[in-house]
Amino acid sequence: MTNLDLAVLRRDYALASLSETHVDADPIRQFEAWFADALAAQVLEPNAMTLATATSDGVPSARIVLLKGIDAGGFVFFTDYRSRKGAELAENPLAALVFLWKEIERQVRVSGAVSRVMAAESEAYYRSRPLGSRLGAWVSHQSSVIASRAEIEERWQAVSQRFADGDVPLPPHWGGYRVMPDEIEFWQGRPNRLHDRLRYERTSSGWTISRLSP
Ligand SMILES: Cc1cc2nc3c(=O)[nH]c(=O)nc-3n(C[C@H](O)[C@H](O)[C@H](O)COP(=O)(O)O)c2cc1C
Repeated sequence: MTNLDLAVLRRDYALASLSETHVDADPIRQFEAWFADALAAQVLEPNAMTLATATSDGVPSARIVLLKGIDAGGFVFFTDYRSRKGAELAENPLAALVFLWKEIERQVRVSGAVSRVMAAESEAYYRSRPLGSRLGAWVSHQSSVIASRAEIEERWQAVSQRFADGDVPLPPHWGGYRVMPDEIEFWQGRPNRLHDRLRYERTSSGWTISRLSP
């Protein structure tokens, strides 16, 4: 039993509103504007997003990853292709993303098809990472079961010796994915749970915007 009374935790949202007439016609530009607002509001790790994937049978899984790029092509994150998410994306290349910027009472949801980025793009990002992170990508086979913490510490020693000259190449099992959005929803908290929700859907010629009931 817990003595946490979760039912009493509530907060009313009143900071801002979201209107069809003010949003950008392009949801990527709208996302960039909101991301700039999150930065300005000093949201902690505004690029942290929930990534949901699923097996081909539709069994879902979700975890946080970091957004590392955004452009007209979509939302880019980097990971171990051998991980659970990598296996699920190999069999079912669809994903959903959720950003929560609670300090500014906003949520953004994205869904669409996923593809691996070009190796050159992974290489460019990998090269920009600190040495420890580059070594870590060689040390860990992400999502595999290990016997103990000691196992990973030993592998760290071995990998550090192997690449003692500091030239750590991009591991073949590591790289980026790009989520190409079919749908992006912007949510702004409003009083009395009557929130603003605007959903962009991709069409053959651009995007349509609909308002959704809160
Ligand atoms: C704030 C935060 C940022 C993270 N960023 C990443 C990331 O960019 N890439 C990644 O592979 N895992 C990242 N992780 C770890 C994942 O949440 C997860 O544990 C890992 O990717 C394994 O997931 P999987 O077994 O479902 O594949 C992050 C975790 C947190 C809490």
